[in-house]
Amino acid sequence: MNVYDGERMTEMLGAKGMTAAADGADADLVVLNTCHIREKAAEKVYSDIGRLKRQDGSRPMIAVAGCVAQAEGPEITRRAKAVDIVVGPQAYHRLPGLIDDVLAGRAAVDTDMPEDSKFDALPARAKQARPSAFLTVQEGCDKFCTYCVVPYTRGAEVSRPWGEVMDEARALVDAGVREITLLGQNVNAWTGEDEKGRVQGLDGLARALDALPGLARIRYTTSHPNDMTEALIRAHAEIEKLMPFLHLPVQAGSDRILKAMNRSHSRDSYLRLIERIRSVRSDMALSGDFIVGFPGETDAEFEETLNIVREVAYSQAFSFKYSPRPGTPAAGLDGHVPAPIMDERLQRLQAAINADQLAFNEATVGRRTTVLLERAGKYPGQLIGKSPWLQSIIVENADARIGDLIEVDIVSGGPNSLGGAVASRQAA
Ligand code: 5AD
Ligand code: SF4
Repeated sequence: MNVYDGERMTEMLGAKGMTAAADGADADLVVLNTCHIREKAAEKVYSDIGRLKRQDGSRPMIAVAGCVAQAEGPEITRRAKAVDIVVGPQAYHRLPGLIDDVLAGRAAVDTDMPEDSKFDALPARAKQARPSAFLTVQEGCDKFCTYCVVPYTRGAEVSRPWGEVMDEARALVDAGVREITLLGQNVNAWTGEDEKGRVQGLDGLARALDALPGLARIRYTTSHPNDMTEALIRAHAEIEKLMPFLHLPVQAGSDRILKAMNRSHSRDSYLRLIERIRSVRSDMALSGDFIVGFPGETDAEFEETLNIVREVAYSQAFSFKYSPRPGTPAAGLDGHVPAPIMDERLQRLQAAINADQLAFNEATVGRRTTVLLERAGKYPGQLIGKSPWLQSIIVENADARIGDLIEVDIVSGGPNSLGGAVASRQAA
């Protein structure tokens, strides 16, 4: 979502006549769009600010945007005097006014969560450089997992209205986009009324997008298990453009830890959900997020996380060491897991995930599938695109262009990418 927000800020400042500088040192304005999810991400902003000082001692105007801005507010300007603007993720449409404030010598801190949507104030989508684009449809979270800052930094769950989403999707397709990834902290909690006033869920939105000529693929991320409705599951069998890939975080494998995390689902209910999804769409690739070393996690409880990985066989997954976040309930819990144990658990988990990822990739070798070409490869003649299952596929001498959807035979598979041979320059 930060990538999406960054693009919208760039487009908005572009509409005001600003252009992108080659690098930070040359810029008149640097916007650091920050993440507060783990301590490491949050600390990065302060080292980045330090690096923006030029040799002659001058510096660009510096704005700190995103969730660190939201969480720390004016504290940032106290800790880092070089920062001119602090702007939260729901207020960045006000960036041009904040720049004017700085030029007029006024303080420029805006961490409001205004009623009026920032989306109304942003300019229409500009021409897209890439054939795959993000589109935020839902923001915020009401789930309050005990370790997580998102409900505090991004605010309550809000769905963007149907018409607004469809307009932005059409603008993206007109701007050359062939794949849209719908974004939300809880994207599958999206709800809205269609143009006939009927209440729709994410499945209804996907169906409407499926009817957009020119659009080839639809994805969505991130989903919460409890919002995975039967209608959305069935949509994976019915909507042709909806890709067979689902990022469905479980976080941990032990019921005691899931309860302490306030995940409101159990190990069993999660596994049953996966089973149901696979019964509808047998080739569904699954991805997840995991946290190791939540306060009080025992060796046996960690083993249950490894177990869930073995049971699901994810095609890819992200895993993190627990990081206590200020203001969250878990930050006050006893049972701190020592760093060496955290490290060892993370390593074991990542080894298991990597092995599954390689096995998944190897199992696709020999298949004929579609690839949406997204960028040039490292060597001349190479193009890189994505399979339906979000794998990176490298094709040689494709005689095709970025943005083409082609048919490919997968001929080799590695841990992070696969090799493809062109079967047809036009996907059926
Ligand atoms: N510590 C470690 N990982 C976290 N995540 C969220 N909060 C924390 C935290 N305090 C992870 C979760 C989430 C992903 C986006 O980040 O796995 O799904
Ligand atoms: Fe954070 Fe996701 Fe839990 Fe919401 S559902 S509190 S965003 S981990």
